[in-house]
Amino acid sequence: MRLIHSINELRRTLSGVSAAFVPTMGNLHAGHLALVKQASRSARPVVVSIFVNPLQFGPGEDYARYPRTLEADCALLEPLGVDYVFVPTVEELYPEPQRFLVLPPLANELCGAHRPGHFAGVCTVVLKLFNIVQPRVAVFGKKDYQQLHLIRAMVREFNLPITILSGETVRDSDGLALSSRNGYLTPEERAEAPRLYRTLRALRERLLAGARDLATLEAEAVGSLAAHGWQVDYVSVRSQASLLAPEPRERALVALAAARLGTTRLIDNVEVELPEPGL
Ligand code: PAJ
Repeated sequence: MRLIHSINELRRTLSGVSAAFVPTMGNLHAGHLALVKQASRSARPVVVSIFVNPLQFGPGEDYARYPRTLEADCALLEPLGVDYVFVPTVEELYPEPQRFLVLPPLANELCGAHRPGHFAGVCTVVLKLFNIVQPRVAVFGKKDYQQLHLIRAMVREFNLPITILSGETVRDSDGLALSSRNGYLTPEERAEAPRLYRTLRALRERLLAGARDLATLEAEAVGSLAAHGWQVDYVSVRSQASLLAPEPRERALVALAAARLGTTRLIDNVEVELPEPGL
C-alpha cells in the first residue's frame, strides 16, 4: 500500500489504469471499510482518498475539530489490500480560490436547508477527485443518502464515465449508524443516540401498517425525538427515486432524519418498500 500526497504523482501512478475509488474524510470505521471491500470486489487497483474538505463545512461547523487519524486509518486499510491512499493537503487540492459547482434545487433541501453550501462543497471536491483519480467505479454509503443521490445526479449530468456503487449503512449492535462524529458524543448522549434509528424504524412500521398521512408521521417522529432532548433539523419521508415528496401510489420511499444531541449532529435514514398500491 502506497501513501501518495501529490496530484502529479498519483496521476503518473494511475495513468492508463481504471481503478475503484472510495473517497473519505478519514477517521475510518467499519462503514468505510465495507465500502473499500465492495470497491476491491469490483475493480483493481483500489484507491482510497483521505481529505477533510474545508469546502463542505460551514462557519461554526466542526472542520477544526474533525478527527484526523491518518496512522490508524492506514493500519485499517493495509490488510484490506488497498493499493493507494491519496492524502492531499488543502494547498495541493485548492491552490487557488475554488469555485463551487452549481447544484440542483434538491441540494438546498433536507440537510442542505440546514447546511447551506454543504453539498456544493461535497460535489466540487468529489468532481475534482474523480478528475484526478479517473476511476472506473466509485463507492459511496447510503448512510449519506442525499449525498449519494446528488453525486449520482452529477455523474449523469456531466456524463462522467464512472459507475457509482452504493453500500448499505453499517451500524453498531444497538442500531446507531457508524459515523466519525459519534466520537463527539458524551457517554449519556451515546446511550441516547440509537433513538434516531429506532424512531425511523417506528415510522417505517407505521407506514407498513397502513398509515398514509406523512405530515403526521413526520411530526410524531420529531415530537418523540424532541421529548428526549434532541434538536431536530428534519424528519422527512421522500421518494427514493427523486428524493422529492413522493407521488401518489409511489412505493419505494425513504425516511430521512437529521438531529442534534448537544453539539453533535447525527443523520440517518431507512428505506421503506410499500406493498401495492403504495401511497
Ligand atoms: P465520510 O463521512 O468520511 O464518508 C466517506 C464514505 O463513507 C461516504 O460514502 C459515506 O456515505 C460512507 N459512510 C459513512 N458512514 C457509513 C456507514 N455507517 N455505513 C456505510 N457507509 C458509510 O462522506 C464523506 O466523507 C465526504 O462528504 C466525501 C464524500 C469524502 C467528500 O468529502
